[in-house]
Amino acid sequence: MQITQSIYIVSGSEYDQLGNVYAIRGKHGIALIDSGEETAAPVIEASLERWGMGDLPVTHLLLTHGHMDHAGCAAYFQRKGALIYVHEGDAHLLREGGFPEDTTPYGEGYIYPPCEPDVILHDRDVVEFEDFRLKVWSLPGHTDGSVFYLMQERCDGFPKAYGRGSADSAAPSDGYEVLFTGDTFSYDRDCGEDHILLCWKGSPDYDAAKLRKSFEYACQTFYPEVILSGHGTPYLGGDGNAVIRAAARKFLNEYR
Ligand SMILES: [Fe+2]
Repeated sequence: MQITQSIYIVSGSEYDQLGNVYAIRGKHGIALIDSGEETAAPVIEASLERWGMGDLPVTHLLLTHGHMDHAGCAAYFQRKGALIYVHEGDAHLLREGGFPEDTTPYGEGYIYPPCEPDVILHDRDVVEFEDFRLKVWSLPGHTDGSVFYLMQERCDGFPKAYGRGSADSAAPSDGYEVLFTGDTFSYDRDCGEDHILLCWKGSPDYDAAKLRKSFEYACQTFYPEVILSGHGTPYLGGDGNAVIRAAARKFLNEYR
């Protein structure tokens, strides 16, 4: 399903899969944001074919974090030629292939095929993909290495309703902002009155105090028009900061 001029959702809840996968369509290749579970590869490839991108190689895979429902196909796409990007805090999860048995607070293990990341990301790095620039923001809490990616999308035909812009954006001033949030929080149109889905707290490195700081920082920093999260549904309403503030309120209510 096409979401914006350059971005498609190619696996995830709209496809009855766990973990949303987004494709940024370049002229010569595709950048994926997350890769779903290990079993999602055929769904992703069928979607790319369906949306007319079957002849373009996946050249970049940018992970929001290292959980199995986001990094499960990293090894697969690396074998097919993609560069794998992950924040330094979650690089060990890629190398180890998730958590072995009985390492989570719930006594479970979540594993996937491991791989060596090609690019280790740090806070405020900028990833260049063809004409696109994605700025990396470290937002620890859900995992140590959880990140947001902020990118500027072309604005042909898109009403720039708010236009304030996020702090220190990497992008030029024309266009509008898209924020990929991973599992720090998800927007979900079917989720109660506030449409916010707070994500799994069972990671061995889950840290509520860090997540609280990340929410405070996010409220002051990001004013995207579009939010694309790790689960749930795309938010296209224009006032992404209101969505972030709703997520922070919900988190703080549960945190207390
Ligand atoms: Fe996660």
